[in-house]
Amino acid sequence: MVGRGDHLRTLHAELARATAGHPTAVLVAGELGVGKTRLVREFLTNVDAEVFAGACVPVVGEPLPYAALTQALRGGSALVRQEVERSPVLARLLPGGDADLDGTEASEAAASGAASRLRLFQAVLTLLGRLSAVRPVVHVVEDVQWADRSTLDLLAYLATNFTDERVLVVFTLRTDAADDVRVARWLAELGRLWPVTRLPVGRLDHDEVADLVTQLRDGQPAERLDALVARSAGNPLFVEQLALVDYDAPLPDTLQELLRARVAELPEETRRALGGAAVLGRPTTLPILAWTLEVSEEELDEALRPALAAHVVELRPDLRLDFHHPAFREVVDGGLMPRERVRLHLGAAGALSEIQDRAPAVVGEMARHWHRAGDLPRALTASMRAGGTYVRLQAFADAHAAYARVLELVEEVPHDLDLVQVRLQAADAANLAGESERALALLEEVRTEAADPTTRAEAAARVGAIHFRTGDGAAAEAAFRDALTLLPTGEDSVLAARVHGEMALQAVGWSRFDEAELLSAEALRLATEVGARREEGVALNAQGTTAAFRGDLDSAVELLRAALEIAREVQDPQDLGSAYVNLSHVLGMAGRMEENVELGRIGIVELTRVGQERQQGSLLLNNVS
Ligand SMILES: Nc1ncnc2c1ncn2[C@@H]1O[C@H](COP(=O)(O)OP(=O)(O)O)[C@@H](O)[C@H]1O
Ligand SMILES: [Mg+2]
Repeated sequence: MVGRGDHLRTLHAELARATAGHPTAVLVAGELGVGKTRLVREFLTNVDAEVFAGACVPVVGEPLPYAALTQALRGGSALVRQEVERSPVLARLLPGGDADLDGTEASEAAASGAASRLRLFQAVLTLLGRLSAVRPVVHVVEDVQWADRSTLDLLAYLATNFTDERVLVVFTLRTDAADDVRVARWLAELGRLWPVTRLPVGRLDHDEVADLVTQLRDGQPAERLDALVARSAGNPLFVEQLALVDYDAPLPDTLQELLRARVAELPEETRRALGGAAVLGRPTTLPILAWTLEVSEEELDEALRPALAAHVVELRPDLRLDFHHPAFREVVDGGLMPRERVRLHLGAAGALSEIQDRAPAVVGEMARHWHRAGDLPRALTASMRAGGTYVRLQAFADAHAAYARVLELVEEVPHDLDLVQVRLQAADAANLAGESERALALLEEVRTEAADPTTRAEAAARVGAIHFRTGDGAAAEAAFRDALTLLPTGEDSVLAARVHGEMALQAVGWSRFDEAELLSAEALRLATEVGARREEGVALNAQGTTAAFRGDLDSAVELLRAALEIAREVQDPQDLGSAYVNLSHVLGMAGRMEENVELGRIGIVELTRVGQERQQGSLLLNNVS
């Protein structure tokens, strides 16, 4: 590698800080081909640390959920594999995991979605903590400009929850493509949670380019060398590819033009194989590529040989085929003719369906390939399954996207799906992904369209819960009341328990204590009757808070402690937050200051861990100080 001495020193200094127990993050930023990946690779060959590395990948134009984490787990050391075996939550992300259960189980997972996603995030935190107890860890996440929402959330979670783990996180970001507002907003956010050191990687200077050219191909004539320096403007990828061009061939003006010319030189069968690799999108195994192209593995080997020799693609140590640089993939993809593209998408969908028993998470990719190939009925079936799979993987934004695709496709394809159920599942996923507006819109459709009153009640209850949590009390109350009128009278249900409990909490908030008492007593009766633990906790919370305002502080504390206990058991972030905040408020009213300080100390740790440090956590600290 030429140059970059300062960059390497910065990375080593950050690692030293991390090794001293100060978790650190570095953002390696620069344009396409400037040498971000190379810099990180060089750094990793010279560190005495556990390397946990993966890259974000766009597949068919969309990011692949948790791609970086999955890759890091798959490529991890023996120690990583051992930890994964101990953790079912992590194992689920890998081929052979049980991410692909059918719809009923998927919706069960969604019911406690926030809690289960938390378990995944905690498992990653625990894994990094365990690894770093043995030796310092470098966690690399390449190409965050392609990160999916779930990956961004996971990294933000780690940033908030690291304490003294010996972990250095290295991100790479392609700045020429970073007009993505989503990533820009997330970077700003991450910067607030964590002091991220920005490490810009710029172009090489004249001497460095000359060094690089000599290294790559000694004996370039002097005037040619100057032309290379001028044309490449110091971008190493450009330099490297230019140095491979014949001495007497004209030099292309742009990097894209150059890469296109390099691909165009290859035989037709080779270009066809590259087309398959580009459409598959991520590093792929040879059997999958052969299936996609409908050729034998021997024929594929033949076809790939010239591309390997020309360094357009390479075989990675895990035997997956990857482009030498993502820019090649873009160039090949951009050059595909429409009919060829359709054929390759069909081939890719077929190839992935061959491995879906082993790697269920590919169903989302299959759905996109069928869709691009215009096979809408299969796209529909696969999208439906992808929704359930992504929920199981706690990739809620992706689950929502899959269900949204289902709802579009049903307009064009005959089907026998229960659209009300699909909308409920889509709404859940949207809500868990933090898109409450979208969730409300879907639930309102269910509320007006569903024939069965219990389903309409369910939708109304969820609308109420969202309004309650976002602070729109009047809308929440209206929706809760609607839910109660829709529920069959005299029939005990979890839903009835939940609605009564949440209405009780709301009534306390509005100082309507008589009403709160009635509602919470009914909520508790219903929850006990049907054995609904979470709803029991909510009811106790409302009862405790009401008791406090009635002046019975001792019972209030007791009830709220019980509510907190249940919230811990079910690990619902909202319930935990509410129980902590209300209990600390009541301890304050009772003047039990020492107890309250102790509660605050434990509570802030626990609320931070469940991602509630800002809303509920600050209320809690306010109550105990
Ligand atoms: N400092 C360097 N010295 C030698 N080769 C380099 C250097 N930086 C980058 N390269 C080469 O240039 C190409 C593009 O670099 P890469 O790290 O993949 O770019 P990026 O990740 O920024 O898009 C790679 O083949 C890489 O080996
Ligand atoms: Mg790179």
